[in-house]
Amino acid sequence: METLRHIVLFIHLIGFAVLFGAWAVQAFGGKREITRLMQIGVTIAAVAGLALAAPWGLPEDVKMNMMKIGTKLVILLIVAAFLGIGQARQRKSGAVPPVLFWGVGILTLVNAGIAVLW
Ligand code: HEM
Repeated sequence: METLRHIVLFIHLIGFAVLFGAWAVQAFGGKREITRLMQIGVTIAAVAGLALAAPWGLPEDVKMNMMKIGTKLVILLIVAAFLGIGQARQRKSGAVPPVLFWGVGILTLVNAGIAVLW
């Protein structure tokens, strides 16, 4: 079970890499658009993150920090909302409002920071 948990964590990190990588391509030299790859990344990170939020496959003395996990969930929901609204605005007017575009990248990094520093 512990190995399986590590595999799910690995998948969670792939989701993070896909989301942040796709965003970075757009942010630095790209058109600053919301892309399908970002949606795929956030979905992978969310599904694997929710699987990791349940207490299974942990060593006996390890307790989960539910405040940290709840905070990460709220931030992820905001990122997903920014992606959804940003994409709708992109279709309508051809551009993503900067606050939504930069919000996606910054909040994704905030979540990774919370994961490793809290
Ligand atoms: C964009 C969103 C997210 C990013 C960038 C992210 C990033 C990360 C990273 C970098 C780790 C590895 C930390 C380590 O092993 O030290 C991690 C672990 C973890 N994440 Fe996420 N995460 C996100 C969303 C979520 C969500 C939504 C949940 C659950 C509701 C979640 C739950 C967890 C759990 C339980 C772990 C295992 C280690 C720990 O307790 O910190 N994550 N995440």
